[in-house]
Amino acid sequence: MKDIVNLSQNRGFVYQWSEIYGWLANSWDYGPYGSLLKENIKNLWLKEFVQKRTDNMLIDCSLIMNPKVWEASGHVGGFADPLTDCRECNTRHRADKLVDNLLETTDAVAPANYAGDKTDSAELDQILVDLKVECPSCKKSSFTPIKKFNLMLKTFLGVTDDSASQAYLRPETAQGQFVDFANVARSSRRKLPFGIAQVGKSFRNEITPGNFIFRTREFEQMEIEYFVTPGEDDAAFAHWKAESLRFFTDIVGLKEENLRFSPIQKEELPHYSKEAWDYDYKYPFGWGEIETLANRTDYDLSAHMEASKQNLSYFDAVNNKKFLPYVIEPAMGLGRIVLAALCDAYTVDEENNRTYLKLDPKVAPIKVWVLPVVKKIGHLAKEVYAQLSEDFVCEYDEVSTIGKRYARMDEIGVPFCISIDSTNYDEGNVTVRFRDSMEQEVVALTELNDFIRKHLK
Ligand code: GAP
Repeated sequence: MKDIVNLSQNRGFVYQWSEIYGWLANSWDYGPYGSLLKENIKNLWLKEFVQKRTDNMLIDCSLIMNPKVWEASGHVGGFADPLTDCRECNTRHRADKLVDNLLETTDAVAPANYAGDKTDSAELDQILVDLKVECPSCKKSSFTPIKKFNLMLKTFLGVTDDSASQAYLRPETAQGQFVDFANVARSSRRKLPFGIAQVGKSFRNEITPGNFIFRTREFEQMEIEYFVTPGEDDAAFAHWKAESLRFFTDIVGLKEENLRFSPIQKEELPHYSKEAWDYDYKYPFGWGEIETLANRTDYDLSAHMEASKQNLSYFDAVNNKKFLPYVIEPAMGLGRIVLAALCDAYTVDEENNRTYLKLDPKVAPIKVWVLPVVKKIGHLAKEVYAQLSEDFVCEYDEVSTIGKRYARMDEIGVPFCISIDSTNYDEGNVTVRFRDSMEQEVVALTELNDFIRKHLK
């Protein structure tokens, strides 16, 4: 993990936030290549799940919604983590994560009343004692009584900062889809089943952010609320299970052996779902969730209907029936997929004494790297750059030796490198170098864009 973090920082994928002010712990900025990698994954998600489908539509809601949305959704009352402090070294922890870690790494058995972050606080206090859970920092076993800590980030609207002006930054994109459900259904004249998709920032005041960009307080989600007739929810769940896997493997290019799909136990289900499974990725620090696929039933629509006193039901004209649709929700974390792509691609090629990112060309931030063999023919290479950059995100580089430039390109995961020398160029050709095999091929300039396009698929 340390190597991946170092490469990410040195090569411009991810920087620590506010670096010139001495950093803010666990906050990260995406640099030039990280931004493009993230945009590519997001755009592929939009292409697969909005552009190529006839049943899904995209919306873009406010980050700050009416606070009543979060009361109705159950987030104000129930979106809380169990917080405890180590009495010896004063470090702060999520009590359920301490227990989970112990259960994963030892033979300890979970007590029957253990329900993850949903466990009653007094019972969880006792479980910490009974299992002799240790503080990860000082290895002592003495914790303060658990306090429930609401994860929503608060803010104030207008000129006063009293409770009347209190609002929240959204902790998930999803409520926008529920609140706008009736508007979308009416204005799009869609029949069930259909999905409303959203990509954007969400905020959670995580107690223990960490593992690089895995758990942060500000992150991007890609969520689809897929509305179906009750009774058709199990089939839709199976459909989105397969579609999510296809996205991770065929589109983002993650190795299937690094993915697993596991159920969330009944007692640990979020307050809104009847059934939920996680797609986890095998990061160097262990398995970590990249998507939750949940059957939210009609929980949200009925909660908003009751709280707002507005009719959110759907009218099925064929069967002349009014009802609240059920919802299947594939909810992915964009930053976690970026991190998975970086971990999956990180390759140490000992034979050739190099490290490179074997990113799927579809997600690679820079598709083509253009370099003149010597600086003095830079003007020719810039013409090739102009030709290629009409179609692809390219980078031009004339600094340092060819070998050093290839090494840099490999670490950024650029699939194709075009070198220009005057002899080849005079004959209308350039040389294409392939990142993974390091093989080279002479290609005619007139065919170059088509050649790259063909290999990008
Ligand atoms: N609307 C449902 C929902 O938000 P979730 O499991 O809480 O479900 C969905 O979040 C996805 O969002 C997670 O699988 C994860 O990929 C991402 N995510 C959640 N909290 C995160 C955090 N603090 N940092 C980065 N990504 C996060």
